[in-house]
Amino acid sequence: MARLIVVSNRVALPEDQAGRAGGLAVALREALVSFGGIWFGWSGKVAAQTSDRPRFIEEGPVTYAVLDLGRKDHAQYYNGFANRTLWPLFHYRMGLAEFTRQDYEGYMRVNTVFAEQLQPLLTDDDLIWVHDYHLIPLGGELRRLGARQRMGIFLHTPFPAMEVLLALTHHRRLVGSLCAYDVVGFQTENDRRSFFDYVLHEAGGWIGENGHVTVWGRSLVARVYPIGIEKGAFAEAAQRAQRTVAYRRLRASLNGRKLMIGVERLDYSKGLPERFEAFSRLLEKHPEHRAKVSFMQVAPISRSEVPEYRRLREELESLSGQINGQFGDYDWVPIRYLTRNFARSVLAGFYRQGAVGVVTPMRDGMNLVAKEYVASQNPQDPGVLVLSRFAGAARELTTALQVNPFDREDMADAMDRALGMALDERKERWVEMMRMVDENSLEAWREKYLADLNAAPFNG
Ligand code: G6P
Repeated sequence: MARLIVVSNRVALPEDQAGRAGGLAVALREALVSFGGIWFGWSGKVAAQTSDRPRFIEEGPVTYAVLDLGRKDHAQYYNGFANRTLWPLFHYRMGLAEFTRQDYEGYMRVNTVFAEQLQPLLTDDDLIWVHDYHLIPLGGELRRLGARQRMGIFLHTPFPAMEVLLALTHHRRLVGSLCAYDVVGFQTENDRRSFFDYVLHEAGGWIGENGHVTVWGRSLVARVYPIGIEKGAFAEAAQRAQRTVAYRRLRASLNGRKLMIGVERLDYSKGLPERFEAFSRLLEKHPEHRAKVSFMQVAPISRSEVPEYRRLREELESLSGQINGQFGDYDWVPIRYLTRNFARSVLAGFYRQGAVGVVTPMRDGMNLVAKEYVASQNPQDPGVLVLSRFAGAARELTTALQVNPFDREDMADAMDRALGMALDERKERWVEMMRMVDENSLEAWREKYLADLNAAPFNG
């Protein structure tokens, strides 16, 4: 029987799993347990040198095989090319993208090292499932070493429009290595269309029926698999959370005011300064909301060694201080800005109390917070989701109040509308969103992808 080999930059190790693993980690682990197999990737540790062999941790039918990254590799591959070049570019932020030859070489070097250390662990009928932009070249590197297994990649981020991708010096090499896989998975039709554009107009390839692509002498399938959240898990967590101290303390602190909530990593793709400014505009334009609503933004610090992330943090600190200074009162703080992390079980309770959930990224692959917010609502009295049209989730959650995150006025108007929305309309919109959340669950995403990977021809 085929084993499953999951490869991702971050690996959810058993030691980090006690109640803290995210939904994706849970779903991948479940798949690994049922197939048996290996989860391969970075240990999360930085050492003087990149490990010359993986460290193995066995847990039942699953083996975790992880490498420490050397300081230079971590700087060039992770902080550099992955997070300072590909991340901004894939999120349409060309102005923030830095291109250096050293970072590119570091990125390729780490992908080669991963391939060299993974290859000896493989057997012929293994299914290899690679995740995300950090490891795009891995498949090609494995093929170069003679691997003929069925291999797929799923891109959790957006795939940028061809013209944006062309700004990358090594675009041909990168897309070439994407085409070394048998199944290339995208979050939305939009992302796949960008890929097809590249295949047709830059690579001179063919697009057939059902996502079949013929390019550079290879054939593969490119399909859309919108990622979701675990069925039922958030709704249950939100109900359970009502009995916790955190839930009660938050409720007491609101003192009858409405809660508007945003939760994301502190990342410039999430549109946080624009959101803060939209909230400020709401208070300016609609003084009736003053002292009647509190906006809580949870934004755990992320990738803090990358200068663009540090600058964003400073900007948010200054903006929240300025808005609280301008509009706040001795008994009301308009923005509660928190950079600490909360357990998912606590967040579920916060979402449930949010009369409005604000998810307004400038660009996002999917955005699972939008789905988690929906799933956490009380069906008898659901809140309203204000959602950026540039989040992948906007394709499915069409009854959210969709906004243009570049337009503060539009966002302020949507916040006003959400705060005043009648129960009937809230319910109607929520039922439809919940249907989509259930339909495109995390389990459905995983099963659909693995079925396609399983059906791919062996490359022998
Ligand atoms: C995004 C990426 C993931 C990444 C996560 C956290 O969701 O698609 O691949 O793991 O951000 O970022 P970090 O750099 O901390 O792994």
